[in-house]
Amino acid sequence: LYQWHKSFGFTVLGLAVLRAVWWSIERNPAPPPGLGPLEHTAAQIMHRALIVLALIVALAGWAVASTSTLNIPSFYFNLIVIPHLPLRQSEASEAFWTFAHALLAYLMLGLVAGHAAAAFYHHFLRRDEVLVRMLRPGARRRDAKTFNTQENDDTLVERK
Ligand code: HEM
Repeated sequence: LYQWHKSFGFTVLGLAVLRAVWWSIERNPAPPPGLGPLEHTAAQIMHRALIVLALIVALAGWAVASTSTLNIPSFYFNLIVIPHLPLRQSEASEAFWTFAHALLAYLMLGLVAGHAAAAFYHHFLRRDEVLVRMLRPGARRRDAKTFNTQENDDTLVERK
């Protein structure tokens, strides 16, 4: 089970690196109409936090495996061995990384739940298109083009 956990964790790490690169080069779509400045800032902080946490939770897990005095190799789906990080193996170091890994993992879980709750709130209570845009990135890109026009800027001002 530990090896499965590590294999899926390394997969998450690879996907998180891709997502972080994508996020840094992608032109962000305009926020959906009707979103207040505070909500927009909260959404931006949430997105950054989720990407950063996905990276550091997995890295902290890798540090747990690397600092463990048991020195057990990480077999990636039984295909290849992923080397340990160059960290000193000691019980104190392993305890620290285990604590950090668990704490950050549960924090990320809380944020994922909050993110999902916010999306449902938009869909079922506010009845706006936030969830649909999250599920259909194509629609988001089309929206971004439309929302950037002067006409839409005027609509946004009116709605505010
Ligand atoms: C984003 C990906 C990951 C998530 C969400 C995650 C989450 C977790 C969680 C929730 C625990 C249990 C913490 C507790 O309650 O004690 C755990 C334990 C552990 N994880 Fe991960 N993990 C991830 C990636 C990794 C990776 C990549 C590795 C190693 C290469 C790893 C190695 C471990 C180990 C060795 C433990 C057991 C620590 C101990 O109690 O001794 N994890 N992980």
